[in-house]
Amino acid sequence: MAENNSAWGGRFEAKTAKIVEAMNASIAFDRALVYEDIAGSIAHARMLESVSLLSADDRVAIEDGLVAIANEVRTNTFQFRIDREDVHMNVEGALADRIGQAAGRLHTGRSRNDQVALDLRLWLRRELTILGHELSEVVNLLIDVAQDHAAVPMPGYTHMQRAQPITFGHHIMAYVAMFLRDIDRLLDCRTRVAVMPLGSGALAGSPLPLDRQRVAKELEFSEITLNSLDAVSDRDPALETLSVLSILMVHISRMAEEFVIWNTQEFGFVEFADTFSTGSSLMPQKKNPDIPELLRGKSGRVFGALQALLTVMKGLPLAYNKDMQEDKEPLFDAMKTARQCVGILPELLKSMILKPKRLKDALRDGYLLATDVADYLVNKGVPFREAHGIVGRLVALGLSEKRRLGEFSLEELREVDERFDESYFEALDIERSLSRRKLHGGPAPSAVATSARLAWRHAAGLTRQLEAGGPSALERALWIGAELPAPVPSDKAAT
Ligand code: ARG
Repeated sequence: MAENNSAWGGRFEAKTAKIVEAMNASIAFDRALVYEDIAGSIAHARMLESVSLLSADDRVAIEDGLVAIANEVRTNTFQFRIDREDVHMNVEGALADRIGQAAGRLHTGRSRNDQVALDLRLWLRRELTILGHELSEVVNLLIDVAQDHAAVPMPGYTHMQRAQPITFGHHIMAYVAMFLRDIDRLLDCRTRVAVMPLGSGALAGSPLPLDRQRVAKELEFSEITLNSLDAVSDRDPALETLSVLSILMVHISRMAEEFVIWNTQEFGFVEFADTFSTGSSLMPQKKNPDIPELLRGKSGRVFGALQALLTVMKGLPLAYNKDMQEDKEPLFDAMKTARQCVGILPELLKSMILKPKRLKDALRDGYLLATDVADYLVNKGVPFREAHGIVGRLVALGLSEKRRLGEFSLEELREVDERFDESYFEALDIERSLSRRKLHGGPAPSAVATSARLAWRHAAGLTRQLEAGGPSALERALWIGAELPAPVPSDKAAT
């Protein structure tokens, strides 16, 4: 036999070419799955013992060896080897180095195809959970900001034109609503990720009496996959995660874009602390919002990752094809990017200095209360279409004479329409206008306070859900080097 890869070298006479090894190997990136790979192997070994395919002694030797490898990984002393191709064969190879022959029994009834499917699902469940928690932190902070500024008036925009008065708290609550949906999507995605694929083998299951449910229990998955061909060739969990991350990045990017705009000299609605700004190497006066710009820009990487994986998958016949190894780098990069962006948001928000006076000044020009005047006429019984026309004429008059709506006398108003009376001037009061917009979900300070309270409760509920379906006790013990939980009792022991 050639001195080829010991996991599959049996039928080969010549050694793999170096350039093939370099292209084929995934260890440079799939090493990120090492804890998941070990956790999956421990669960698999425990199951093999329970169905008498592995002796108790061998199972203990395998488990101890795997724990020792996890400890080496944690202390950065584990040697990942490119000649061992991927994370699965690195772990198995290192186990054989440690415990000898018994390691050869670990892969019983298993293929790297169902193994990598499992590793990926474990990794996704963990990352989705962590990201969900990180995003809840952002949500809670935004709710605080909204509550603190529930009564600060500012112009709301459509078509980037000043439209109607809203409150800063109301504007911030829009992002709270988006991020709450994002957490919900992360959770929803996680339920479909957390399905256990082992027992699918390379593609056709296994003739051995494997207990798939037991592996699922060991890893705290509530479901097992339905079809072995699908289980080894499905990358929906990664695609769905990338879709969810892409939508999240759209929201982050839109918020970042508003921060950039608000931070301009033209708007001057907010400023960022020096610690969150950067200068220009050429123009001494510059103070740039680089971080919001990067938040906006980084969305491109995440969308790109989704496109890349959709393209990899779209033409693949069933079942596993090596193309699918290309899922990992974009996925890992996208998750890292999303977590970095979410991770910096709390500090960015804390560094934001609001300029309430600039916000209020921006309400003075632009006839933002024109709709309020129309609504005032509606309250007097004027049909809305007619009211719209009347106020339109008033605005035209104001524009030609450079006068604001509040700068007309009652006589002048009555010349436009005789139904105007004294209370017209109340309609033009910003604070009153805002407090009238108190429908659920509206900008009135009282409505913002209510939405903030509801959002806070919603976020707390989502956090509880995140806590419940996260990584298994087995994985958690491996990360921190704690003692492993005991194997789940076998059904016989339970009855
Ligand atoms: N490194 C591989 C991947 O990520 C693992 C599965 C390999 N399976 C195979 N039949 N070569 O896709």
